Amino acid sequence: KKILVLHGPNLNLLGTREPEIYGSMTLDDINCLLQKDADEAGIDISFKQSNYEGDLIEAIQQSSAYAYIILNAGAFTHYSIALRDAIASVQTPVIEVHLSNIHKREEFRNNSVIAPVVVGQICGLGAGSYTAALHYIITTLKGAES
Ligand code: DQA
Repeated sequence: KKILVLHGPNLNLLGTREPEIYGSMTLDDINCLLQKDADEAGIDISFKQSNYEGDLIEAIQQSSAYAYIILNAGAFTHYSIALRDAIASVQTPVIEVHLSNIHKREEFRNNSVIAPVVVGQICGLGAGSYTAALHYIITTLKGAES
């Protein structure tokens, strides 16, 4: 089975977008890092970024071929009930990730409306939030094989 990495709005601007908060890695840099780890583990991984809520919802709705989704929903995290409903509507387990620690930023970022319907949330580790999620998935999938 494959893994889908879904990046939400404004994450296409990583590298130049508020680097003091989000770091200097571009989205391609992050995807390459994940691709390398997935290759080493012999696991298929795909990437998608969209600035549109509906695109993300459709990707989640059509995710039955994937074993897991790693999702950084960007600002939709904080208010998209539609995204939350999409996650709750499918069997595919979702791991929520954020580059920044949303709990120590502005109050409006402290709440995640998707948190109650995901496996878990990893935030504040920069690109390490994504790799930690991927390592969890790799370990879990390997464990399920044996
Ligand atoms: C983010 C945190 C969100 O609050 C913000 O809107 C983003 C990025 C993160 O990765 O830290 O776009 O999800």
